[in-house]
Amino acid sequence: MSTDSPTTSIEEQIEAVSAEIDSTSVTNVDEVEAFRIRFLGRKSGVVTDLFARMSEVPGDQRREMGQRLNALKQRAQSRLDSALSEQVASSSEKATDIDLTLPGRVPAPIEPGSLHVLTQTLNDLKQIFQGYGFSIAYGPEIEDDWHNFTALNFPPEHPARDMQDTFFLEAPSDETPGVVLRTHTSPVQIRVMEEQKPPIRVIVPGRVFRNEAISYKSYCLFHQVEGLVVDEGVTFADLKAMLYAFAASFFGGDVKMRFRPSYFPFTEPSAEVDIWWVDERLPDGGRWLEILGCGMVDPNVLENVGIDSERYTGYAFGMGVERMAMLRHDIPDIRLLYENDVRFLKQF
Ligand code: DAH
Repeated sequence: MSTDSPTTSIEEQIEAVSAEIDSTSVTNVDEVEAFRIRFLGRKSGVVTDLFARMSEVPGDQRREMGQRLNALKQRAQSRLDSALSEQVASSSEKATDIDLTLPGRVPAPIEPGSLHVLTQTLNDLKQIFQGYGFSIAYGPEIEDDWHNFTALNFPPEHPARDMQDTFFLEAPSDETPGVVLRTHTSPVQIRVMEEQKPPIRVIVPGRVFRNEAISYKSYCLFHQVEGLVVDEGVTFADLKAMLYAFAASFFGGDVKMRFRPSYFPFTEPSAEVDIWWVDERLPDGGRWLEILGCGMVDPNVLENVGIDSERYTGYAFGMGVERMAMLRHDIPDIRLLYENDVRFLKQF
């Protein structure tokens, strides 16, 4: 056999490849993969190529050459297998470095939303009064003059009818008395009494609108909770007892409260109720803050809705919900309640 005959060179190649198989480094994943492709790759692996050259081998040598090539392939395969199992072993060694007691790595936490502080306050107010046996009534935000003013005993020239306070949807004229965005929840007193006969015991939560200069304490819209109780023998003492009980529930048992004489067209007598707001920064250690208006339903109002004012009496009250929320949470500016800044809202 001459040295440059094809079979010789196959033999030489087998030697060379065999040496290369032993000396190739397979210490990491990339080297192992490179090894697999170089020696055992189906398309152009060197061992595969040698098998392709079997046709050059004379017939009588084929059997032996085949065995040698198979052995070579086996050598490459076992080197690959042991490299792979070393890889698995060393990666599971690394796995033991993981501290399984650490908390999982999670994306930024999903923050749950919450009810707006005004909604929370309204819910609390409703819940307290429902506990005292009041049911809840609602009325329209767009009102006619009769319900918003006339039936509530507002004299024709009353200043609250002034264009300054009231948003008119239809200006009053000689033919029509006008259509307004309700300026208070009191018109729903009228609507309830037009529908229902005594005994009546309702609260009316809702939005109201005023054409006022916007400031830290006034906004063009706000919320009220109106209350109305009409029955035989209802007195001012019932009103006082109710409101004391309410204030104790809402502000806490030790709240200080006072009634001040006042005037509303639809109640007689009328009062405003203040609570003592403790504030150590003030010279007196606090101050009186008005929370609601109230009084005995004026007999004219009862007569306007066909309720016999000789037989029935009633009390009514109306409170500002924003004012309640601001007092309870020490919120300094009503506008914060309408800006929807999450940094503010998140606090409640
Ligand atoms: N409606 C009045 C206002 O918006 C508040 C009020 C006062 C309501 C006395 C009442 C009441 O029911 O009796 O200023």
